[in-house]
Amino acid sequence: MTRVLITRPLPQAVMDRASASWDCDLRPETSPLDAGELRAALRDYDMVVPTLGDQFSASVFADVSEPRCRLLANFGVGFNHIDVAAARAAGVAVSNTPGAVTDATADIAMTLMLMSARRAGEGERLVRAGAWQGWHPVQMLGLHVTGKTVGILGMGRIGQAIARRCHFGFGMAVRYVSRSDKALDFPAERAEDPEALAAAVDVLVVAVPGGAETHHLVGPSVLAALRPHAHLINISRGDVVDEAALIAALSAGRIAGAGLDVYEFEPEVPAALRALEQVVLLPHLGTAALEVRSAMGHMALDNVAACAAGDPLPNPVPG
Ligand code: 8YV
Repeated sequence: MTRVLITRPLPQAVMDRASASWDCDLRPETSPLDAGELRAALRDYDMVVPTLGDQFSASVFADVSEPRCRLLANFGVGFNHIDVAAARAAGVAVSNTPGAVTDATADIAMTLMLMSARRAGEGERLVRAGAWQGWHPVQMLGLHVTGKTVGILGMGRIGQAIARRCHFGFGMAVRYVSRSDKALDFPAERAEDPEALAAAVDVLVVAVPGGAETHHLVGPSVLAALRPHAHLINISRGDVVDEAALIAALSAGRIAGAGLDVYEFEPEVPAALRALEQVVLLPHLGTAALEVRSAMGHMALDNVAACAAGDPLPNPVPG
């Protein structure tokens, strides 16, 4: 019988389907696979459903000659923790869960944008501390978002969902940087490069995939191009933003604020960042809703089912 490893507890309906369909090991830990577990996953299972933090690097594949595993059906759209080229070379296919994550992730971008621009985290801390002295007309003034310009760095599915919310919901002008020209159903102006984009927007949202190509894409030069009233939002992968450079820009008041759902050395969040009032810090909540996580889980299992049946994968990763 097909042996499947699910590396983290998933919504119950997803686990039930997996257990009913295959000989499944449901790993109860919430932490990423360790070095031994990564290798055992490739060696002992026909298919694995890994997720964020399960580092299937080239050295893991190198250590397991002739893996039993035929598919890594990643739970999540981002697969920068898997060396896809090494997987392919070892005969292991990789799939992910695009589409299922789009709206929820765009919603978290809007949450961060509004919270950062309108100083919601800071205000909430003030009230919780019992330190609020009462309303007055010039208290805690933030950035009015309606009608401003948003810059979308990476106009893929998630970038477009954010742009739509900004345009149709908040009357914002949209600018973007993307590797290719996009046919969009809303007005948007394409910028030359991340620096030109940063210089022209009030809020810059990072929505590119993680990985070597986008590592530190938002570094000192992009941060320097942002204007002092601008906010940076990151819902992609932490290391797309040079965190030390971001802390320096925020601390010096060179940008107004930031909203982050992801961190360079996740789950570590630097004390210097936590000490800043003008940042909103969420614990990677992008898709954290039961129906979304269930849809992601079922999509991952659809890929397992296709592989088990010898059918083409519905969601092979690009590249
Ligand atoms: C996931 C995400 O919940 O889908 C992604 O890539 O970033 C998330 O919101 C998490 O990373 C699991 O993959």
